Amino acid sequence: MMKKNNELGIYLHIPFCESKCKYCDFVSFCNSDEYIEDYFNALKKEIAIYGDKYRDKVVDSIFFGGGTPSYVDGQYISEIMKALKENFTIAEDLEVTIESNPNSIDEEKLNTYIECGINRISIGVQSFNDQLLKRIGRVHNRNQAINAVKMAKSVGFKNISIDLISSIPGQIIEDIDTSIEIINDLEIDHISYYSLILEEGTPLYKEYSRGLLPDLPSEDCDRKMYSKLNSSLQEIGFSRYEISNFSKPNRESRHNLKYWKIYDYIGLGLSSHSSIGNNRFYNTSSLNDYISKLNEYGLPIIETERIDIEERLSEFIIMGFRLINGINIDEINNRFNIDFLKEYKDEIDRNIANGLIKIADNNVSLTNKGADLANIVELDFYR
Ligand SMILES: C[S@@+](CC[C@H](N)C(=O)[O-])C[C@H]1O[C@@H](n2cnc3c(N)ncnc32)[C@H](O)[C@@H]1O
Ligand code: SF4
Repeated sequence: MMKKNNELGIYLHIPFCESKCKYCDFVSFCNSDEYIEDYFNALKKEIAIYGDKYRDKVVDSIFFGGGTPSYVDGQYISEIMKALKENFTIAEDLEVTIESNPNSIDEEKLNTYIECGINRISIGVQSFNDQLLKRIGRVHNRNQAINAVKMAKSVGFKNISIDLISSIPGQIIEDIDTSIEIINDLEIDHISYYSLILEEGTPLYKEYSRGLLPDLPSEDCDRKMYSKLNSSLQEIGFSRYEISNFSKPNRESRHNLKYWKIYDYIGLGLSSHSSIGNNRFYNTSSLNDYISKLNEYGLPIIETERIDIEERLSEFIIMGFRLINGINIDEINNRFNIDFLKEYKDEIDRNIANGLIKIADNNVSLTNKGADLANIVELDFYR
């Protein structure tokens, strides 16, 4: 489907958490609750500034990410929704997602979300195995995760996603069977399944450097777990629509599609970034700077960048290969005024010959082998 160019996605970063997980290097803070009030006041000012700037655009997707948006009082989120509706033109079929942790939601909060227009919830389950949850420093257990999904359903959420992490130290392939059984019972709509990344500086990375993670699954085992999850999810009605994302029909994440298709979005809040046409802007990661800048009615941007058309094309190709349908040839030709098959003939021929990509139904996409070796294809197409 061709996209109208006046649609806009909005990401809002909520950088507060109950505790820091051992693998996480996202911009998020625990023991910083005294900043919450000032942070949300600053966020409202940022919303007002961007609302003036982009009145002509129609917001069709809003995403509260973090950090843990469900950690703060529901009233803060509801006030932000009110500010967004007052300052932006909103699409009738708006999708609004909130990220949450199983231990920080309750019925009252969930009802507040529904009442203010949030219609999709992403729950950070990570694993349904208590021992594995402990290994990565999660503060909830499997029963809390299951109850969180049930509670979200009972208050009326009809679009529920969960995040799972693959390759947790100690994880074995049989773990997938348990997850699939629970996913099926709970009738979940969407799953994001990311391999654990050992981010430098995190406690888990330090354990790894000291040789304390002998049971970290190998790359081969990780691939097998992905493949098993993929085939088992297909059996219960999911499609893999992006390398790490699976959904029931019509339950793909609209917000994530904006990133993968390089549609326009703005990121509000600490450390967020925005992409409007060829312009990229990046917000500060300092909580004090963010709040004080907006208190003076300035924008908390620390860097702006104008990328050229070649770079944007490379981005579009690399992101496009993450999608299982791949790159639509008409779309890329129209958006970039090129003949894709001609301009990238060498790369396309080489990767087809190596069994990494295929052309079907006017789309160029990764094969199963290519999905395992996506970084090789991406490098080859990067100019
Ligand atoms: C930043 S978190 C926000 C959601 C919520 N705070 C939570 O933890 O459930 C978004 C997701 O990123 C994933 N994530 C964060 N750090 C990761 C890492 N080092 N490796 C793999 N996945 C990671 C987790 O699955 C997490 O649910
Ligand atoms: S993974 Fe989520 S809950 Fe854990 S520290 Fe990161 S943002 Fe917070």
